[in-house]
Amino acid sequence: MNAAIKSIGVYLPEFIAKNDDLAKAKGLDTNDEWIRSRSGIAERRMVQDSSILTADIGYFAAKNAIEKAGISTNEIDGIIAGTMSPDKQFPALACCIQAKLGCGRAFAFDITAACGFIPPALNTAALMIRSGQAKNILVIGAEICSRIMDWSDRGTCVLFGDGSGAILLSAIEDESRGFVGSALAADGSLTSILYLNTLGAQDSFLRMEGTSVYKLAVTELANITKKALEKAGLSVNDIDLFIPHQANVRIIQSVGKTLGLSQDKVMVNVDRYGNTSSASIPIALYEAEQQGRLKPGMLVAMPAIGGGMNWGCVLFRW
Ligand code: UT7
Repeated sequence: MNAAIKSIGVYLPEFIAKNDDLAKAKGLDTNDEWIRSRSGIAERRMVQDSSILTADIGYFAAKNAIEKAGISTNEIDGIIAGTMSPDKQFPALACCIQAKLGCGRAFAFDITAACGFIPPALNTAALMIRSGQAKNILVIGAEICSRIMDWSDRGTCVLFGDGSGAILLSAIEDESRGFVGSALAADGSLTSILYLNTLGAQDSFLRMEGTSVYKLAVTELANITKKALEKAGLSVNDIDLFIPHQANVRIIQSVGKTLGLSQDKVMVNVDRYGNTSSASIPIALYEAEQQGRLKPGMLVAMPAIGGGMNWGCVLFRW
């Protein structure tokens, strides 16, 4: 028995904020040229309606994935969610989404890894399925980043966007497809370069030392990808599609170059959504599928890095 990606669902808020419009609306001393040249971002989606919660957008993406898979909600055995912009300190976002979906007593917990959510989440879900503990697990990243930005911190607030994505992992008998392996790592001594204090704290905005995060990202995303491949007895040449966390096009290109990947193997959509944190890989994966870039037999590598600092890479055979 193995675990394979059965379907991917997304929710992208309708409202699009282009760089110059965002600068104007938020009174920021920035411009399209700076944002594009430093990050590759041209626009991002934003939730405008304050009554829409992170749990709502997580639910929309999950519903989309369930409908695409053609299964019923009571077939979901568990939900693993991730967010850095939760509605509540607790309960877990996964529990809030579980109630909205109405999927009985499915287990539900969150993994706190901010932008680094997808590798540990897919790894955990896949191993639970392989061990026979579950047949269908939803992995959901949902973010309303616009609510945790300090809109006077121009070096950070322009980089993030809102959105959600859900990946349905299901048990399959064909072991030549699905989860291949992963590598995970963390360095808890680096908490100060990317963090968000407790909800309600005096300073409760996302804080980031951009340059330190940048330097760590370009090195460790390449290293962890190589490590995941090595553990699985594979090499960089085996990668057919590289779908990294979408934080900054310069980080993505630098990692791709270090690994020696040709540009056509590297998925980039940060230009249209900004950094959607835990949702960025699901959204990119969804778009890769829509564009017909995912074909049977392909090896897909998905590395991510986030607050912790923690980073990882997960490999799937399509
Ligand atoms: O998911 C993981 C989370 N985050 C990331 O992956 C982000 C990682 N970091 C980065 O992407 C980059 O470090 C940034 C895009 C955040 C910054 O790029 P940079 O090339 O490292 O720029 P910088 O922070 O060194 O700033 C350069 C200059 C500064 O001016 P001075 O001091 O040189 O005069 C900043 O004040 O750019 C200025 N600046 C801006 N100017 C216009 C900073 N933000 C802005 C802005 N518009 N929005």
